[in-house]
Amino acid sequence: MSRAQTALSDATPTSDFDVERIRGDFPILSRTVNGKPLVYLDNAATSQKPAVVIDTIKSYYESSNANIHRGVHHLSVKATEAYERARATMQRFLGAARPEELVFVRGTTEAINLVAQTWVRANLDRGDEIVISHLEHHSNIVPWQLLCEQTGAVLKIAPINDAGELMLDDFEKLLNEKTKFVSMAHVSNALGTINPVRQIVDLAHACGAKIMLDGAQAAPHLAINVRDLDCDFYTITGHKMFAPTGIGILYGKHDLLEAMPPYQGGGEMILSVTFEKTVYNKVPHKFEAGTPHIAGAIGLGAAAEYVMEIGLDAIASHEHELLAYGTEKLLEIQGVTLIGTAREKAAILSFTIEGVHPHDVGTILDQEGIAVRTGHHCAQPTMERYGITATTRASLALYNTRQDIDALAVGVRKVIEVFG
Ligand SMILES: Cc1ncc(COP(=O)(O)O)c(C=O)c1O
Repeated sequence: MSRAQTALSDATPTSDFDVERIRGDFPILSRTVNGKPLVYLDNAATSQKPAVVIDTIKSYYESSNANIHRGVHHLSVKATEAYERARATMQRFLGAARPEELVFVRGTTEAINLVAQTWVRANLDRGDEIVISHLEHHSNIVPWQLLCEQTGAVLKIAPINDAGELMLDDFEKLLNEKTKFVSMAHVSNALGTINPVRQIVDLAHACGAKIMLDGAQAAPHLAINVRDLDCDFYTITGHKMFAPTGIGILYGKHDLLEAMPPYQGGGEMILSVTFEKTVYNKVPHKFEAGTPHIAGAIGLGAAAEYVMEIGLDAIASHEHELLAYGTEKLLEIQGVTLIGTAREKAAILSFTIEGVHPHDVGTILDQEGIAVRTGHHCAQPTMERYGITATTRASLALYNTRQDIDALAVGVRKVIEVFG
């Protein structure tokens, strides 16, 4: 179990984690905003990019740019090698058995829609059930609603408790012979809850369902091993793990990917085309129609190498200590309520301030150079569970420091002064 998965009270500072050196890897962190040093606490929305990722993309365009897979010329071969090398890196990052189990997609949203419209749609009858939880991002709700409208399947919602933890017993009660598919966040973007995913996978499999885990918020913070998790599908999105936007990964067990119909038709996903019959390409290319985001994939590989070199356990440990510190600092302030107090939590501090709209909180913090997110965080049902419409969310990453938390606490006190 990683340090981030232990109780908050266990947190101790880590001495071997050189956060100042890491900050030096991210050029944007040295800029100012509104005349103040940038304090970037909006990592759950998107993370900043280290120089190694920016340089890898620049170097690709300067020295190897070409379309992949179809060319015999030097640049095409180089670009293809770099793209497939990135897939192999992501295989290591996710602990998958083979590179063919990784499909490059635009991001988590596309991966969930892809699985919904291929494996699940092909295996669903009217009246069958799909289970998600009350913690999901809209991208893990709406694709299932669309599918249910198209097929007559029924969407079931596993509840959460007041701390924002999945109620496992109630989840288990929802599972039955009609349950065909379960799709759950590994880590909640709105509250930071880390779900007990291995138990969830076992429960889903015990009733004969397949399961997908949405790892958008897990990948930058926790070591992931899809084989240990035994999930059928797993998805991550590059831009939240220090890579470019527009690129992500869908992992699927090989036999499932093989059995699935294609998602989109076009070039690259075929072996041969005649007007009478088209033969599809082998996996993963069957799911990569059209020219992919080649530079993005290569950038994602560079980001994964960067993170693996620092070590996800070291990152989790650093963030865990910051989360404990931030929790303490915010709770010292009268009028602040933390939304999401799960025992197993990633580095997200979602909170409300009595009598102040989160939008005003965000605006005043911005004047101090502090970037946080305010709103429903694309998780309106989660907000509704707490009887609120929005929170202010400070989400941390490996480059954040205790000074960032101190700045946040000072900013929050200022908000209360202004509106108090
Ligand atoms: C838990 C979770 N799932 C899915 C997504 C969607 O990711 P993307 O917009 O990169 O597809 C997000 C983005 O915030 C998220 O936090």
